Amino acid sequence: MKRILFVCLGNICRSPIAQGVADNLAKMQTLPLHIDSAGTSRSHEGEAPCINSIKIASKYGIDISQQYSRPIQTEDIGSFDYVVAMDRQNKKDLEAFGFENVYLLGDFGTFDGADVPDPYYFNGLEGFEKVFDMIHVCVENFLTHAMSKNTKKGVENGK
Ligand code: 4NP
Repeated sequence: MKRILFVCLGNICRSPIAQGVADNLAKMQTLPLHIDSAGTSRSHEGEAPCINSIKIASKYGIDISQQYSRPIQTEDIGSFDYVVAMDRQNKKDLEAFGFENVYLLGDFGTFDGADVPDPYYFNGLEGFEKVFDMIHVCVENFLTHAMSKNTKKGVENGK
């Protein structure tokens, strides 16, 4: 069983989508994965994902409405095979917190290492549609990568 943690700032917009997409793919392909997500900030702790993230995921058959935001915690360090940040600031914050080998989700698409943009202040669903597409492509590629590796926790180097 491989363990993957997706991380953004608030854990209410991007990483809940990544968790939902990964959970869904793991279920459909019966992959032995434990998927979780967290935020580098605790400002939305306990909240459900933002309404547009719930809506866009639901449009693609994925229910993320039962997730709730939690901050990263020291217990997470070393307890995941992969820690995957949504943008470079998240990666920096994770490293400052003590995480090592942090991956950047945008490295697993054709987006040239681009950050998954923070959609918190986007109006309407259109921006979320783009974010969903990007997360979906990258998570699918990331899971292919993760399942092809024979890793022990933390052995493989993140970028
Ligand atoms: P997320 O989006 O990091 O994708 O969950 C955000 C949620 C909340 C805030 C920023 C980004 N905020 O500043 O409260």
